[in-house]
Amino acid sequence: MEQMNKKAILLAGGAGTRLFPLTKIVCKQLLPIYDKPMICYPLATLMLGGLREVLIISTPKDLPMLEDYLGDGAQLGIRIEYAHQPKPEGIAQAFLIAAKFIRNCGASLILGDNIFYGKLDFYRDALAIERGACIFGYQVRDPERYGVVEFDADGKAISLEEKPKQPKSHFAVPGLYVYDDQVVDLCRTLRPSARGELEITDLNLLYLQRNELHVKLLSRGVAWLDTGTTTALLEASNYIATIEHRQGLKIACLEEVALRMGFIAQSDLAKIIDRLPKNEYRQYLRMVCDEGPSASPEPVG
Ligand code: G1P
Repeated sequence: MEQMNKKAILLAGGAGTRLFPLTKIVCKQLLPIYDKPMICYPLATLMLGGLREVLIISTPKDLPMLEDYLGDGAQLGIRIEYAHQPKPEGIAQAFLIAAKFIRNCGASLILGDNIFYGKLDFYRDALAIERGACIFGYQVRDPERYGVVEFDADGKAISLEEKPKQPKSHFAVPGLYVYDDQVVDLCRTLRPSARGELEITDLNLLYLQRNELHVKLLSRGVAWLDTGTTTALLEASNYIATIEHRQGLKIACLEEVALRMGFIAQSDLAKIIDRLPKNEYRQYLRMVCDEGPSASPEPVG
C-alpha cells in the first residue's frame, strides 16, 4: 500500500484573515474540526494514500506550533519535515520550497484546510499514475470561489480558471493534487499572477497544454468540505460529529490510521495510549488497539 515514488506536501499557509479573530493566536489549520485539529484531516488523507514522507509548509510564525503538535511523525510511523513559506506567494511556490525534499520524485500536495470524507480510491488511483499530473473535479453550488475545470462533450478537460467571475462549469478543483517528477522544473517557469502569487491553476494549465493532465471527477459519495468561513467551519464540525456519533468511529484519527495502514504495530499504539490523558479519545484508541489492525481505516462500500 505504501507509495515509494511520491512525496507528500501539506501546505498550511495563509494569514487566516477570513476567520479572524479565531486565527489571531492559533493558525487556521490548528483550529478544531469537532474533536481534533483541522490538520489531522488532510494529513490522514495523505497517509490513507500510502504516503509516508511529508513536508509541512507554513508561516514562520505558525510552524513551531504545528511542529510541537506533530513532531517528526515517528509516533505515526511516518516522517514529517517542516519548511517556511515566509510570504503568501502562492500554492505553487510550495514546490519550489520543497525542491530539495522532493528531489527526483513526484509529489502530491494537499491544502491544510481541505477535508475529504469517503472512499479514497480516487486518490490512490491518481497516485499510481506515472506520467503527468492528476487533479480532481467536484460539483459545488458556488464554483466562482475556486479553481474551475470545464469539460468537452467527451468528458475531456478543456479549460481551467482560477476563481472566474463567470464559471464555465460547476466543477471546482479541490486542494488535492498529484504531480510527476517534472513538477519542480515546471514551477520554475511560472510567473506571479496579478495578485502576486504563483498559481496552482497556472501549473495545472502547463500540464493541460502538454496533454499530461488527468482530471477525475469525484463521485457524489465523497464529501469535500470547505473550512473557509466561520459558518463552513461549524458545518464541517457538525458533519464530522454526526458521523462519528452515529458509527462510534472516528474520522481522521491519526493513530488509528497509522495502525490500520500498517505504519505502526499494535504494541506501538499501546505505548502511545499509555501516555494519553484519560479521556474519550484515549478510550477510543484503546478500543482500536484491542481490535487490532485488520478493520478498514476508511468508509468502504
Ligand atoms: C485554492 C486554489 C483553488 C482551489 C482551492 C481549493 O484557493 O487557488 O484553485 O480550488 O484552493 O480549496 P484558496 O483556498 O487559496 O482561495
